[in-house]
Amino acid sequence: MFETLPEPKLDGIIALMQAFADDPRMGKIDLGVGVYRDEAGRTPVMAAVKAAETRIVETQESKTYLSLAGDGAFLEVMRDLILGGAVPSARVAAVGTPGGTAAVRQICELIRMARPEATVWVSAQTWPNHGPLIEAAGLPMRRYRYLDVEAGALDRAGMMEDLAEVPKGDVVLLHGCCHNPTGVDLSLQDWAELGALLERRGAVPFVDMAYQGFGEGLDADAGGLRHLAARMPEMLVAGSCSKNFGLYRERVGIAMAIVPEGQRARLAGTLAGLNRKVFAFPPDHGGRVVSTILNDPALRQMWQTELEEMRLRVANNRRGLAEALREATGSDRFGFIAGQQGMFSILPLSPEQIESLRAEHGIYMLGDGRVNMAGLNEASLPVLAQAMADVI
Ligand code: LMR
Repeated sequence: MFETLPEPKLDGIIALMQAFADDPRMGKIDLGVGVYRDEAGRTPVMAAVKAAETRIVETQESKTYLSLAGDGAFLEVMRDLILGGAVPSARVAAVGTPGGTAAVRQICELIRMARPEATVWVSAQTWPNHGPLIEAAGLPMRRYRYLDVEAGALDRAGMMEDLAEVPKGDVVLLHGCCHNPTGVDLSLQDWAELGALLERRGAVPFVDMAYQGFGEGLDADAGGLRHLAARMPEMLVAGSCSKNFGLYRERVGIAMAIVPEGQRARLAGTLAGLNRKVFAFPPDHGGRVVSTILNDPALRQMWQTELEEMRLRVANNRRGLAEALREATGSDRFGFIAGQQGMFSILPLSPEQIESLRAEHGIYMLGDGRVNMAGLNEASLPVLAQAMADVI
């Protein structure tokens, strides 16, 4: 039965995680997978999460099934955290999913059910798993220009030109904030122009929100998404609590469809039905941690303070790397790193340079030059800068 099965191709991020783990060298530097790390290189359980977990363990009386959509309290707090009241709740159909990844996949399944011929447009540089998820749902995909690689900035004209061709009923995938892998975000003005364009074209925006709180702050990071939600008749949103709650392996995500009021119940039922066909009930523990935190003013404050510390550390690493590269290379070529947002930037390096950094210096980054800024600390910043100066 399985003889003809092709050899599996490991996702670049997962392959790099494995290669890093297998490297015996001391002093190796992991800038691969998008996981927050503190100055000591740890990814600790957040204190607010620990406190919420303790409370749940002490008070939970049953683990019997909930609904296919998951816990209502989780869906409500996440809807508010992401949408911030930009649309009436009567327009939002939502279900819990095992992480943001499954939210993206379930939304693709929903698109396929509703409109199998819809093409999903993704930015030329995007999270390496977006393509496979869209493809696995059987949807056609096209790319729009996004990054001006040399400038480390948005190719605004290219993006708008490509998206001006999107036919009615197609779907445009956008990153809510902290664009993965480029770190290049849209300004509020860009979001507004994009909204007007998508409206004119009759296209449906699909926003992947995986890093809320890591850019400019919780509300500022959702500004563009909320603008679109308020103006578009239909919109899709995938949300993740992996990074901003540090709940990575607990798999906590939400899939939302924003639709005209009369369609909400049908969409909610359809999304719940899609859950039933893959995993039935979404995992509960992580989502309960999130609702416990967000519904308790003291825990919420504790969480926000911790998240803000993480955000500032990443921003500080950005400035530190830009400065270290200025010193090591004597040029301003990498100054863009300081102005970008979130965990990632793409370093304009050739595949050979990326390979020498790994082979000669034990520095691991993705094949397209994506680095996780949270993987750096005061000691490794100058090491990376010097190694880059060496290979350039
Ligand atoms: C990443 O982009 O590294 C993270 O989102 C982790 C993942 O699942 O790929």
